Amino acid sequence: MPGSTPTHWYNILADLPFELPPDIPPPPAPAGAADAVTPQLPLELVRQSMTRERHVAIPPRVLAKYRTWRATPVARARALEERIGTRARIYYKYEGGNASGSHKLCTALAQAHAYAAAGATRLVTGTGAGQWGTALAVACQEFGLDCKVYMVAKSYHDKPYRGTIMRLHGAEVVPSPAAGRPTVGTGVHPGNIAYAVTEAFADARATAGTQLSVGSGEAYSILHSTVIGLEAIEQLGPDEQPDIVIGALGAGSNFGGMAMPFVGRKLRGEADVRCIAVESAGCPKLTRGEYRYDHTDGSGVSPLQKMYTLGSRFVTGGAHVGGLRYHACSKIVSALHHHRLVEALAYPQPDVFASGVLFSRTEGILPAPESAHAVHAAIQLAKEADEKGETPVILFCLSGHGLFDLSSYAEYLDGTLADTPVSDADIRRSLDLLPRLDEQVVGR
Ligand SMILES: Cc1ncc(COP(=O)(O)O)c(C=O)c1O
Repeated sequence: MPGSTPTHWYNILADLPFELPPDIPPPPAPAGAADAVTPQLPLELVRQSMTRERHVAIPPRVLAKYRTWRATPVARARALEERIGTRARIYYKYEGGNASGSHKLCTALAQAHAYAAAGATRLVTGTGAGQWGTALAVACQEFGLDCKVYMVAKSYHDKPYRGTIMRLHGAEVVPSPAAGRPTVGTGVHPGNIAYAVTEAFADARATAGTQLSVGSGEAYSILHSTVIGLEAIEQLGPDEQPDIVIGALGAGSNFGGMAMPFVGRKLRGEADVRCIAVESAGCPKLTRGEYRYDHTDGSGVSPLQKMYTLGSRFVTGGAHVGGLRYHACSKIVSALHHHRLVEALAYPQPDVFASGVLFSRTEGILPAPESAHAVHAAIQLAKEADEKGETPVILFCLSGHGLFDLSSYAEYLDGTLADTPVSDADIRRSLDLLPRLDEQVVGR
């Protein structure tokens, strides 16, 4: 379905029927510890995070870059529908067809533009699956910035060619934690996004002209990603609007980018639509976490935001979905979930890979493991609808391709892909380490 590139992003803050809980500055660092992390956001991103305008103009240089690959296609998954024998109509919006291979380029370009305009010469970041790191590498190259990526060690070793792509676009990439480096608890853990961001923070503090850029979760990254949902609304047209909208959830820019324009329509009374965030059962912050103040990284010194979290010290197991292994969820998506305006589902890794393989065999695109969560949810919801005799229109975001994830698909095909269950005790232990600040913020 052809479509046009929107000229404005959609800002959900304009339509929220409640105030978001304020961020809280970090507690004072103990003597000798690292200083509090105070990210230096360019004014452009501050404005985009705080404005209540419903439609925020996309800067012309960013729009020109978007137009090189957007609008991205929306397709009906007819072969998949036929294979599972559903009467539901399933559509997917494919975000994997750009230089970086995922939806992350929407915010990477907008951020690189804002940081370059504010005088930065180098951006650093933490990346989970590597999709964000790749997107930032591409965007930095487009806007003439140097780039260094701290990549969650497990993904770094599982997907060496992700690093090659980043280097191809001029970025430096290193594993996080660095090989052999002891971290939280005992021994070396496989890394997680919070820790990679902590390492990137330290680099930004120590290097002149360098800023930390984060790929997801912040209000501006969701705003930048709303081109996805806005295009889908236009592409599906008034007679085929979805009853169910689905996106995989890491920290929120993918789900938020697809769903926020639809949530806005729901809040304005223009449409009745279920928006469903899909997380990994190996990192179930919305479905099993608590709505609490927590740090956005693993350092314990970043500002606190109120969000659904498993605790910033939560160590995810070896799940092959680096992009969904973030301990918490964007404060915007969290608040919407808290107010029951969006829903959440979590699925175990083997079921998700089975659906990824089925999608590849029927529709011809191998989904990134993160995106396969959305595929799996679409299939499950279609089957549920069939059982109830309903025929919904289901739309999901196919947020990236899985061509660098072949080692995990090979494990699935070999029957060696592990499930990565999380115990209640693990979650409790991590949540018990959270600062007890909720009592201080009365009435929110
Ligand atoms: C392909 C893909 N889809 C979805 C996600 C989750 O995205 P977000 O963190 O924006 O929620 C990621 C994260 O890396 C990803 O790589």
